[in-house]
Amino acid sequence: MEYMKNEDISAIRHDYGKYKFDESNINPDPLEQFSKWFNEALSGDFVDPNAFALSTVSEQGRPSSRILLIKGFDSRGFIFYTNYESRKGGELLKNPYASMLFFWDKFERQVRIEGKVLKLSAEESDKYFQSRPYTSRLGAWASEQSKVLKSRFTLVRKVASLMLKYKTSVPLPPFWGGYLLVPDSFEFWQGRESRLHDRFRYELQSDGTWKIDRLYP
Ligand SMILES: Cc1cc2nc3c(=O)[nH]c(=O)nc-3n(C[C@H](O)[C@H](O)[C@H](O)COP(=O)(O)O)c2cc1C
Repeated sequence: MEYMKNEDISAIRHDYGKYKFDESNINPDPLEQFSKWFNEALSGDFVDPNAFALSTVSEQGRPSSRILLIKGFDSRGFIFYTNYESRKGGELLKNPYASMLFFWDKFERQVRIEGKVLKLSAEESDKYFQSRPYTSRLGAWASEQSKVLKSRFTLVRKVASLMLKYKTSVPLPPFWGGYLLVPDSFEFWQGRESRLHDRFRYELQSDGTWKIDRLYP
């Protein structure tokens, strides 16, 4: 198989500069700044405006990333749902620090968020779980996420037998639920002309205030 030539790939480029982000329009509260950009992303006709890359680190210091969907954010932090026994779940158990990365290309923006990750209460997880479609709830029970699966048939058969077990109501699996990332650092990146992008980092201080620095692009 022929791959695309590296020269052709390296020729893919476009200029940024649709928006600017500077000291005059930055919000001193990073959550409010995030909320503003998130609302704009929601109106941007993205398929998954709430998608982000979650990076975790193994006990041996090896990072890994995957796309998830945020299902909420509030003054506590950022909420996402997954299988606690997945690869990411295992890594978070050993090392409860993670980073989240949002990229909204139409807006020429990325947001990096870092912090400590905690499990949500089973009550809060259940509330969200029960709002999911029936088949998604069964899917959560059926999937031993990140484990080796012999065949697709094995999975489909599992779902079928779960349908008989849970005809209407589906309880929250004990191995499934939400995490809350409590942020201590944010970085907002806005693409600008000639690659002179705007970058602002917020770092949480011990007195609970946020220190804001502009970074070189
Ligand atoms: C658009 C998109 C959204 C996804 N949302 C989730 C999600 O909210 N929760 C989840 O567990 N996996 C989600 N996934 C699947 C994950 O990327 C990943 O395959 C899975 O969580 C297993 O990751 P792990 O083996 O590193 O634990 C999503 C994938 C994509 C492409």
